[in-house]
Amino acid sequence: MSTPIIAQEVKGVIPAESKGPTVMPIVVAVPKELASGEQRIAIVPEVVQKLTKSGYEVRIEHNAGMNAFYSDDLFMAAGAKIAYNRADLLNGARLVLRVQPPTVAEVDQLSEGTIVIGFMNATYNLEAVTRMRDRRITAFALELVPRITRAQSMDALSSQATAGGYMAAILGAGNCPKFLPMLTTAAGTIRPATVLILGAGVAGLMAIATAKRLGAVVEAYDVRRAAGEQVRSLGARFLELEINAEGQGGYARELTPGEKAMEQQMVSAAVARADIVITTAAIPGRKAPLLITKETVAMMRPGAVIVDLAAESGGNCELTQPGKTVREHGAIIIGPQNLPARVPFHSSQMYAKNVQSFLALLVDKNGALVREFTDEILAASLLVHAGEVRHGPTRDLLGGGKP
Ligand SMILES: NC(=O)c1ccc[n+]([C@@H]2O[C@H](COP(=O)([O-])OP(=O)(O)OC[C@H]3O[C@@H](n4cnc5c(N)ncnc54)[C@H](O)[C@@H]3O)[C@@H](O)[C@H]2O)c1
Repeated sequence: MSTPIIAQEVKGVIPAESKGPTVMPIVVAVPKELASGEQRIAIVPEVVQKLTKSGYEVRIEHNAGMNAFYSDDLFMAAGAKIAYNRADLLNGARLVLRVQPPTVAEVDQLSEGTIVIGFMNATYNLEAVTRMRDRRITAFALELVPRITRAQSMDALSSQATAGGYMAAILGAGNCPKFLPMLTTAAGTIRPATVLILGAGVAGLMAIATAKRLGAVVEAYDVRRAAGEQVRSLGARFLELEINAEGQGGYARELTPGEKAMEQQMVSAAVARADIVITTAAIPGRKAPLLITKETVAMMRPGAVIVDLAAESGGNCELTQPGKTVREHGAIIIGPQNLPARVPFHSSQMYAKNVQSFLALLVDKNGALVREFTDEILAASLLVHAGEVRHGPTRDLLGGGKP
């Protein structure tokens, strides 16, 4: 039986147990994101204002919001303190809010018992996970927040997928040699472009909505038949197949070899008539399904664009190269990485709201940090705590040794 989940006290820091005058506020620290290409920040001035009003002390690392266009001045006006180095930022901090997972070096800067909240991407950051375990850091992974109705306001996967889907459509339009809308001009009539969206989950639906607003004719396909209604409600055509691969929790299941062949045949006909293809197909915990083979790319219209949102998890197109734009058979294939970071002002705003909602679960009605993480959402997203890896699949990846 695992030990009960109890929040730890940090030496020298007194959580706000009551509203009395001697109580020190809970210090929330927000570091500058150092990962390459990351432009987002985990908090925005509006959320700082709410937290300081509730009694938190919010510290922001100098220029942490600069790339998302939230200046130190804006943060100070909202009630935050600016820290000019990491030591000052983290001194006495009880909570650390991040977008990207901490590196091992960043974990080493934290005091025992610090609570870190952010995307943890544990599968690819096992070294940092074990370091957090060994340094007795508490880490909540926002990607593990269950997708239940009560957790919708904390669903950072969805908010960032929304930003990614929007940017994918913009990137597709920006690289397409054609107009997207129909135009009737003195210089002739232009037919609207056709945009195909493969995978109509959160990102795909946003890509559909954006492409529609740009005036394109939009077609979409998903293995979950339930997605059809949402696609049609956005004014796009849903491509039907005799497959319904609705799996657990509303996600897709992996297709059988026979279903895959049927799917690729239908997809290749749709890809061949599209000017822009945006692929977002994913199966949780698995490599992205291959939907567009190199033979299908060879059938595409000259100048056609593929934006492969699954580039980071193996790609939905056989010719995708993550982080690169390549030209093959006259088509342009874009393998973007971290698209939400390319619209950092609003991605940060949405992410910060998710974090704010999550934080509300961590404090009781007196504003003190809860001592037991028994709430369903906290328990599911708790990655590391009290010297143990609490997330089963991550523990398995670590070889099932020390929890
Ligand atoms: N709070 C909530 O209730 C909540 C929040 C977010 C999402 N959801 C639901 O979760 C589901 C998936 O969300 P997501 O966007 O995170 O999913 P995701 O990122 O895991 O996958 C993206 C899409 O790819 C599709 N897909 C997988 N294999 C495919 C294939 N071979 N061909 C075509 N499409 C394929 C999936 O069905 C999904 O719609 C949706 O039903 C969504 O409505 C619920």
